[in-house]
Amino acid sequence: MGNVTLKNRIIFAPTTLGLKKEEYFKKIQEIARGGSAMIIIGDVPVSKKGHLSLHQKAGFNYYKELADLVHKENCLLSAQLHKSDSNFKGMIKYIPGILTKKITPNDLRKLLNDQVKVLINELPTSKVKEITSSFGDAAKLAVKAGFDMIQIHGDRMCGSFSSTVFNQRTDEYGGSIENRARFAIESIEAVHEAVPTVPIDYKLAIRQENPHYGNAGVLLEECSTFVPLLEKAGVTSFHIALANHSELSDCIPPYNHPYFNQEGCFLPYVDEVRKYTKLPCAAVGGLVHPEFIEKSISEDRFELAAMSRQLIADPNWVNKVINNQADQIHTCVRCNKKCLGGMQEHKGVHCIYEKEN
Ligand SMILES: Cc1cc2nc3c(=O)[nH]c(=O)nc-3n(C[C@H](O)[C@H](O)[C@H](O)COP(=O)(O)O)c2cc1C
Ligand code: SF4
Repeated sequence: MGNVTLKNRIIFAPTTLGLKKEEYFKKIQEIARGGSAMIIIGDVPVSKKGHLSLHQKAGFNYYKELADLVHKENCLLSAQLHKSDSNFKGMIKYIPGILTKKITPNDLRKLLNDQVKVLINELPTSKVKEITSSFGDAAKLAVKAGFDMIQIHGDRMCGSFSSTVFNQRTDEYGGSIENRARFAIESIEAVHEAVPTVPIDYKLAIRQENPHYGNAGVLLEECSTFVPLLEKAGVTSFHIALANHSELSDCIPPYNHPYFNQEGCFLPYVDEVRKYTKLPCAAVGGLVHPEFIEKSISEDRFELAAMSRQLIADPNWVNKVINNQADQIHTCVRCNKKCLGGMQEHKGVHCIYEKEN
């Protein structure tokens, strides 16, 4: 990936675990020790303030400690840089309804999405430029803290700028595909300028119609224009998944999802993206079985397999495969009970297998 060579093709997909520091570090260490080549740390903020900002001493030291820990296990670390598109100001008026439970969690998700549109369309151009250049500042700090690679989160603000569902701007950031890609392109260029030798991975969030899934991100039919633009801006690899801002269980689909219920459920998106780039691509989404991954790689469908829930279920997946113990893998059954379920109940991400590992 770029000028970095991975020891194998297995990556821990960006996963916010919602755990306290000690438990979180322990989980990340287990995954690094379990043989994965790289861990992508989800949702590292580019903002100057706030929880775990790289600009704050506490945040910087937190990531430095994490990088040291992961490197000791001969594993690499990537920072998923993101800018939130939550419109907190726009949500204030709904607080009474939330507190009195008149607004259900489902209503709240819809209201949040409506407010994203307001934020994206009203953001002054000067502020947009400030945000895109902040990706460069954050990248510099991330590399200083020890990260080996930068992943730009193509969902969140990059994704809502990319999508006509949210972006109805009439300036150079709205309208044509080239204009909607401008936010992402400027962010990529800022990272490239700040850390020119560091590989830049892009989490390409795809949305589709017929049936409709995903709201932010890039329409499948727009990949032919979007992908070359991102590559030209300096991206060195792609990580391809369904876009967010719809149901979380679409992006993290359970075994009984009405549409994404198969292993490798987002692979058709990777197939489409690969028509327009020769860069390495990471697939994600319901990947669990070594045979399936091996076959897909041999068919040249992707170079890298990113897994979130499978490595939560069994951090030792890679070592077990290497040591011919694949029959002992705790296979993720995509029940979402304790991972997504744990996150939604504010208990942190866990797994039904936890005690057995
Ligand atoms: C608990 C949890 C937290 C996640 N957090 C993030 C995140 O911070 N950033 C991100 O881009 N994706 C996040 N994801 C999505 C995963 O990276 C991945 O795309 C998705 O879970 C599908 O892959 P899987 O079937 O291997 O779990 C999260 C997934 C889970 C289960
Ligand atoms: S709780 Fe279920 S879906 Fe989540 S990681 Fe464990 S086995 Fe997989």
